[in-house]
Amino acid sequence: MKILLIGSGGREHALAWKLSQSPRITKLSVAPGNPGMEGARMGGAQLVPVTDINDWVVFAERKGIDLVIVGPEAPLALGVADRLREKNIPCFGPGAKGALLESSKKFAKDFMTRHGIPTAAYRAFTSNGDARQYLHSLFQTLSQSSIVVKADGLAQGKGVVVAENLEEALLALDAIMAGRFRSLGDAGREVVIEERMTGEEVSLLTFTDGKTLLPMLPVQDHKRLGEGDTGPNTGGMGTYAPVSVFTPEIAEAVDVQIIRPLQNALLQEDLDYRGCLYIGLMLTPSGPKVVEFNARLGDPETQVLMPLMKTDFLDIAYACAKGDLEGRTLEWRDEKAVCVVLASSGYPGDYRTGYSIQENGVPGDLAQNSWVFHAGTARDAQGKLVTAGGRGLGVTARAKTLEEAIARSYARVAHVKFKDCVFRRDIAYRELNRRGDDTRPTQTF
Ligand code: AMP
Ligand code: GLY
Repeated sequence: MKILLIGSGGREHALAWKLSQSPRITKLSVAPGNPGMEGARMGGAQLVPVTDINDWVVFAERKGIDLVIVGPEAPLALGVADRLREKNIPCFGPGAKGALLESSKKFAKDFMTRHGIPTAAYRAFTSNGDARQYLHSLFQTLSQSSIVVKADGLAQGKGVVVAENLEEALLALDAIMAGRFRSLGDAGREVVIEERMTGEEVSLLTFTDGKTLLPMLPVQDHKRLGEGDTGPNTGGMGTYAPVSVFTPEIAEAVDVQIIRPLQNALLQEDLDYRGCLYIGLMLTPSGPKVVEFNARLGDPETQVLMPLMKTDFLDIAYACAKGDLEGRTLEWRDEKAVCVVLASSGYPGDYRTGYSIQENGVPGDLAQNSWVFHAGTARDAQGKLVTAGGRGLGVTARAKTLEEAIARSYARVAHVKFKDCVFRRDIAYRELNRRGDDTRPTQTF
């Protein structure tokens, strides 16, 4: 099969690596891809310098592509999957209507309310004045101690503020709506104000063909920049899987209260959702609730899921695209994986790029079962590898135990050098802290 993979980040590098092992693949093209995906190591993947929806569709048509896999959310929200399906080209990724579950927080919240899917209580506003008044009443009349303010649209993780008091909430609202900080653009035309939930967060990515939802292993992301989950929200500073706090009892509750209602909801609303539906969960004291949906695979969740997945990703992605997922199962290695993100100092704010990346002296036994997935990297005029983004690399390792996977991942990190490199040293700390409290097996579906 000829596959076109769209995207250029760490998620796409991990997907390209996994796809290149499929016995069914004859040609893998990645548009635009990144330097990590070049050449023989990726089974001869071809990088195609195409970054526009029209050109992707034309490329897929001309080259007789059998399946297009879309990595990032932006082209999905713009309808790339609809355009491909109009031409009868199978696509792993929802159409623009399905992608609204990520691209409009208000749409997602209303959708959950319509279908009785547990989530934080909320109200949405298009008027800054009404939103201000609501915040005043919450903090002053109802003595609320914290609240979450969210831009409605896509904002690359920058559109959410957990406000601890009225002043912070008003500042967040102004940042999103009043035009003082226009960085979010149209994403901030509408705002969602919601109840703050507490509990462990788990990323539960599901494969779906619009009729059946097939969950992957539970993953935990570290969204905050700083160790101990402090500092600003980012796209994700590291992940591990599986997550033991996601017990069989919780999996059962998620199945009954969230997965099954979602399956019905997708059908009832005729979303024709084919791809990955990422369910961001919070395990609150009153049960699991949905924090958010994403219309795509997570980044860096994918960087731990692909090395643990035994099933052929191509097979499952094709089944999603063709509406043929019923009765399929997933097989996983009985191992743990950890991914540490190496970022540029200043991220998620301003940062500098163009610094040379080196990786030297990796011993053979370490190189086995560890991977450096490229995210924000490029080649300079001399062809040297340089930094080109906020999140530069994702260093993943897989091992029998979590402790070994952590040690292996950080041992590999120690061989990578670039100027301004920052990373968290505590990836998977919550799982380590849990040891001894709970030795029940993790639910693996
Ligand atoms: P989102 O983009 O909606 O996933 O939000 C980013 C992060 O903000 C989440 O991963 C949570 O850590 C936090 N967050 C979002 N909504 C809530 C909420 N209602 N209560 C507590 N934390 C939240
Ligand atoms: N790692 C969080 C996300 O992909 O949205």
